[in-house]
Amino acid sequence: MGTFGYDGNARGATPWERMTPLGIQWGNSPKVVFAETCAGPGGPCSREKLTEQWINEQAVKDLASPPLNFDHLGYGGRLAGPVDNANASCMGCHQTAGFPMVPILPEFSPNGALLKLDAGRRPGVAQSFRMMYYGNVASGAVFSDTQLYSSDYSLQLSMSLQNFISVRCDNTAQQPDARPAVCAELIEWSKVQRKSIGDLLTFGSPAADGAPIRSNE
Ligand code: HEC
Repeated sequence: MGTFGYDGNARGATPWERMTPLGIQWGNSPKVVFAETCAGPGGPCSREKLTEQWINEQAVKDLASPPLNFDHLGYGGRLAGPVDNANASCMGCHQTAGFPMVPILPEFSPNGALLKLDAGRRPGVAQSFRMMYYGNVASGAVFSDTQLYSSDYSLQLSMSLQNFISVRCDNTAQQPDARPAVCAELIEWSKVQRKSIGDLLTFGSPAADGAPIRSNE
């Protein structure tokens, strides 16, 4: 995944020619935790250990003074888009692409709230959970076992599927026979997902008195 930024001071007759490559990322450098790249939440960060990307270091310097800015570095110095969450990475978000959609950032997941993740203020905590998002999922593979289909890094496609399904599977708006076959599959999907959470709660960690935790259905 790669991205460009506009550098008004660059050589080039047209604006297109003044677009400067900012970086390319082909992996998340999964073993490099936050403490290995950044001294603290506000940096400074060294990108040397992030070997699965190339950052245009000249552009980092050239775009440093306002009104230009080089704001496309994300979590721990990984490449992220100029319009994307500054604490994420291209691959981190895009490798979650699939259907049904799952949270695209650790902060957005239910466990992220439980772990009180805050990449702005405390990017170094809960690495074992957070680094799940900075592993490398191969294209065509799903990110989570709750997903049925990969959309091959395309988040636009996963959002489109999500929208299509919410409209076409709505049984108040559609005649049952007008619904696509995937709607029936999703009803089964929601049952097995509920069951698996139920099983986890029932047979997971024992409660205080030694009894299994039971879900309050
Ligand atoms: C914070 C998460 C996040 C980050 C980081 C991110 N993206 Fe995205 N990207 C998205 C989402 C969500 C969409 C879909 C938006 C929509 O359809 O409205 C998207 C859409 C895209 C698309 C359109 C194609 C598609 O279907 O996915 C491209 C291309 C893309 N991003 C490239 C990049 C590149 C290159 C980077 C890094 C420089 C990057 N993105 C970083 C979340 C992210």
